[in-house]
Amino acid sequence: SKVTFSFEDATKEGYDHFMIKEINEQPRAIADTIKYKMHEGDIDFGENAFTKEEIEGFNKIYMVACGTAYNAGIVGAYAFEKFAKIPVITDIASEFRYNDPFIDKNSLIILPSQSGETADTLAALRLAREKGAKTLVLTNVVASSLDREADKTIYCYAGPEIAVASTKAYTTQIISLYMLALDFAKKLGTISEDEYKNILEEIKAIPEKVKEILNNIEDIKKYAQEIKDFESMFYLGRGLDYSSVIEGALKLKEVSYIHSEAFAAGELKHGTIALIEEGTPVVTVATQSNIIEKTISNVKEVISRGANIFAICTPDDHLEEISNYAYILPKTIDALYPVLAVIPQQLLAYYTSNAKGIDVDKPRNLAKSVTVE
Ligand code: G6P
Repeated sequence: SKVTFSFEDATKEGYDHFMIKEINEQPRAIADTIKYKMHEGDIDFGENAFTKEEIEGFNKIYMVACGTAYNAGIVGAYAFEKFAKIPVITDIASEFRYNDPFIDKNSLIILPSQSGETADTLAALRLAREKGAKTLVLTNVVASSLDREADKTIYCYAGPEIAVASTKAYTTQIISLYMLALDFAKKLGTISEDEYKNILEEIKAIPEKVKEILNNIEDIKKYAQEIKDFESMFYLGRGLDYSSVIEGALKLKEVSYIHSEAFAAGELKHGTIALIEEGTPVVTVATQSNIIEKTISNVKEVISRGANIFAICTPDDHLEEISNYAYILPKTIDALYPVLAVIPQQLLAYYTSNAKGIDVDKPRNLAKSVTVE
């Protein structure tokens, strides 16, 4: 009989596109990421671990990357400040490399990169080494250029990522950074044993919660239909929710070609609110208990100007009472919500792209790996 599928189709394992396959692989990818960083029930980076003395020598961390890896870095930065109490500066690699960064032998430069080949990230690593800083690469690709040139490497174990829009690399990078931050915190004594154990247990529970989200797609598909013909939309959040919507907005613009912009909700009044009119799609992520009331009042402000709200929230927020759509996430600790909140945002990007008939795996003008400047 005739072969009617290509090699490429075969590796999609029944999914229509690589992007949706990779989104659905996240429970497995995250579970592997966790598993390979553990030994006898505890976090263990083996030969790539820094010693207590080395960590004590770091007076600041720079988190430097491009694109989605940068967005994972801004979430990871939170964990180093919160748990290990080390100040973190996040910088885009193409900026860092030309900004004469203030670094020396007491700085640790962490460089997340799915491919390990991004030209600007590699140039940033070389600059950091020239200045005597320590470098740690977080990558999905063993023996990539960044892996080979770094002082230490941590692997993500996401498995091959084919779709141009990065999904499982993002969530596995965040989990890897959190585990590294916990390792630092334990060695520095900046976290109590109970808190450490609790966060680790919550991390281990993430894959099952991601699975739950992946089974809840009906409202996402409906909202995708409602927004597909808009030229512009907005994403709002505060704190870690702001970091989360930065990635959500990037995902949507990459594969749907809708102009989408993420804003810190508190900045609304300083400009963005001028753009909200009847029907403007606004996605909000509202998961952080310390600032939830503030976010809700911003949501009310855009609703009163006619925004069509898709709220990604927790069971406690009651955003369903005011939003057009309320997507309720499984419960986790505040620090880990970005890993859950990104999944519906990835799915929204995917289904919007589909609704527009775009080639979601190969969006125009974009490359999977940017190896030239
Ligand atoms: C390109 C890809 C993005 C990716 C970025 C950084 O722009 O399209 O998905 O986030 O490069 O790539 P890296 O391999 O360094 O993570």
